[in-house]
Parts: sequence; C-alpha cells; structure tokens
Amino acid sequence: MDSRPATVLVIIVSAIMASATAKDVNPQHSGTSIAEFIKSSCQVSRYPQLCVSSLSPYAGSLKPTLCDLVKAAMNVSLVNARTVSVWAAGLKGRSAEMSERERAALNDCIQNFDDTVDEIQKSLKELEQLQRSNFNPQMNDMQTFMSAALTDQGSCLNGFEDVKAAAGKISAMVKVRVQNESELISNALALLNALALNAFANTGVDDGIHA
Ligand SMILES: *[C@@H]1O[C@H](CO)[C@@H](O)[C@H](O)[C@H]1NC(C)=O
Ligand SMILES: *[C@@H]1O[C@H](CO)[C@@H](O)[C@H](O)[C@H]1NC(C)=O
Repeated sequence: MDSRPATVLVIIVSAIMASATAKDVNPQHSGTSIAEFIKSSCQVSRYPQLCVSSLSPYAGSLKPTLCDLVKAAMNVSLVNARTVSVWAAGLKGRSAEMSERERAALNDCIQNFDDTVDEIQKSLKELEQLQRSNFNPQMNDMQTFMSAALTDQGSCLNGFEDVKAAAGKISAMVKVRVQNESELISNALALLNALALNAFANTGVDDGIHA
C-alpha cells in the first residue's frame, strides 16, 4: 500500500502547523512588544538610556508587567553591585598607587558596597513576596531599602570627592563605577515608584502583583 507515506506526510505537516501556531499563542509576549514595554516604562527613570540598555537583555525572559520589570531592574543593580564590590576589594592590592586618604575612601566604599548588596537583596526578596493585601507596608520597605542603597553609593562618591586633591587613577576608576551603580539603583527606584502609583490605578494592564 502506498497510503503510508501520505499519512506520515499529514502528520509532519500538522506538527509543523501546530508549532507555528504555538509561537503566536501569546503575541503580547513577542520580542518587539516587550522591547516597547521596556522603552516606554523606562521613561519614568532619570537615566532612560541606561534603563533600556540594562533591561533589554531580560526581554526574552520577562513578562510585560511592571512588577517583573522592577524585579529585573533590581536584579541588574544587585548583580552589578556584587561585581563592582569584588573588583573594588581587588584594588586593595594596589595600595602603593594610593594615598592614605584614598585608601581610607576605598575601604569605606567597599563597606558601602556590602551594605548596598544587602539592601537590594532584601528589597528583591520583598518584591518576590509582594501581595496586594499587604501592599503599602511592603512597598514602603522596598522604597526604604533602595533609597538606603542609593545613599550608600552617594557616601562612597563623597568619600572620593573629599580627597580630590590627592585623587589619582584609582579614584577615577572607582568613581565611574559608583556613578553607574547609583544610576542603576535610581532607575530601579523610579520603576518601583511607578509600580506604587499604578498598582491600584485599575488600568486594565496586568501589573503582576499577587492578589
Ligand atoms: C539576575 O541576573 C542574573 C545575571 O544576569 C541571572 O543569572 C539571574 O537569573 C537573575 N535573577 C533574577 C531573579 O532575575
Ligand atoms: C553599568 O552597568 C551596566 C549594567 O550592569 C553594565 O553593563 C555597564 O558595563 C556598566 N558601566 C560601567 C561604566 O561600569
């Protein structure tokens, strides 16, 4: 019988069609609309370009909710803070290139980075457990943690500003990274504040918060 190859062909064709349809099941999750969502949400931040470029790598794994976007922004600031913290600790080995006061400023900064990592971690944990029924206290905690993280980065910068006269190459390298981390935290905080404003606005858009 030669009906067999035809049956096989029908099965193959239906399988291809099924997989093509599956891709379109949720057009809202398509790459383009996520990119648009990131771009438009980032308009509330003070550093929208950094906001977009730092969140774009998450586009593939993100749901288009403000809650998920804040989570990604906090995570970006956390991962970066950890990286810079390790890098800054490594600079201690170059103490010969630093003045006494620069060394002191660096040590303070390393401490500030540890605190920053700790605060963002607490904030991220709170966000993962965010519930509509307990929204205000949890939002308040997160805003406090993220503001504290921002303040810590500010103290670090101030420490280096104070030694301006003696500041060399190392100070400059630290400052550019601290400034970047401050901007990442500031962006996460701006998105968090947007979530606070929109959570009960009933816009019809899923904000991603648990009931
Ligand atoms: C945070 O980012 C890191 C590195 O980009 C990634 O491996 C991790 O899965 C992210 N975690 C969350 C909760 O998004
Ligand atoms: C700023 O942070 C982003 C996100 O982690 C990173 O990709 C970029 O390299 C950082 N820039 C500087 C100057 O540290």
